[in-house]
Amino acid sequence: MAVKIAGIGSYVPEKILTNFDLEKMVDTSDEWITSRTGIRVRHISEPEVPTSDLALNAAKRAMEMAGITAEQLDIISVATITGDYHFPSTACVLQDKLGATSNCACYDLQAACSGLIYSNDVATAMLKHRKHAKYALVVGAEKLSGVVDWTDRSTCVLFGDGASALVLVKDDDDQGDDTLLTTVLGAKGGNAQILKIPAGGSVLPASHETIDNKQHFIQMGGPEVFKLAVTAMASASKAALAEFNLTVDQLRWVIPHQANKRIIDAVCSRLGATEEQVYVNVDRYGNTSAASIGICLDEIVRGGMIKPGDYVLLTSFGAGMTWGAALLRWK
Ligand code: ACO
Repeated sequence: MAVKIAGIGSYVPEKILTNFDLEKMVDTSDEWITSRTGIRVRHISEPEVPTSDLALNAAKRAMEMAGITAEQLDIISVATITGDYHFPSTACVLQDKLGATSNCACYDLQAACSGLIYSNDVATAMLKHRKHAKYALVVGAEKLSGVVDWTDRSTCVLFGDGASALVLVKDDDDQGDDTLLTTVLGAKGGNAQILKIPAGGSVLPASHETIDNKQHFIQMGGPEVFKLAVTAMASASKAALAEFNLTVDQLRWVIPHQANKRIIDAVCSRLGATEEQVYVNVDRYGNTSAASIGICLDEIVRGGMIKPGDYVLLTSFGAGMTWGAALLRWK
């Protein structure tokens, strides 16, 4: 039995917010944003569009590529930190929008920017463990524009909205490897306070005061995140490669979470990856958290830039703090 990726899709809202637009909103400059982050534009949803709609568009594209209908889905896993509601899960909302059956297991997974790597690992294991399950839809979707303080220049320039989706299929007759060869996951809750939305949970329920204090928006210690991200992604990536005795030069693609070009460069220099191996689109989307890695992979697949047998390394880092690296062999 083997699990492979049968379809992939992504979606970003049409509306674009450029660095020049941001110059008119906060005290910043295109030069500062580009040189510190590599970001030039990001896509922003209309206020009335929920995360589940972004997920729906990405999911439809992935399912179309896989050639399956919603009735065939056995699992829907949505990785997000900006779900439609605290509860119900965005996966349940998505199930209804897609028209999946009530036999489909639906859950959200919260590992921030590492969400897709976590979720892909969990869904692969679920498919293998559950005898009658065949198809899993793994989505990373974020509407970060709704949780960003648009008056805080230290965070509002970094994030964008978007979604990506994978359709995983289990083939009982395939005696080969899964597409996902291994996943290395980690977390460090001791650093949780560095990147968070302080209010709205059980620690600090929403109130007029929390709104006045802007505690329902993302707060982040940028430089601390930067250092931890580089160390954790590099070491998780090395551990994943070591498990299969692979060296970096054997990889066709390294796909790091698209948070900041300088973080990507630092991770890839620690790994010894060449520019040709590293996929970068942070300039066009900013940081789309759980969606980012899947958007990259979708562009690679639809651009015909990958072939069977290619090794691909995904690596990510996010709030929690969480991190992960996943090694794929394309089928
Ligand atoms: N425009 C102009 N100046 C700015 C801006 C801005 N948008 N934002 C901050 N500054 C100023 C600061 O106020 C500071 O000014 P000061 O020296 O007068 O105090 C100066 O620029 C330098 O600030 P630093 O925070 O030291 O700048 P740094 O070089 O570290 O870059 C950045 C900041 C881009 C946030 C960087 O630390 C970073 O990318 N960190 C990682 C953030 C990240 O990727 N988070 C998400 C990862 S996890 C996830 O994806 C959920």
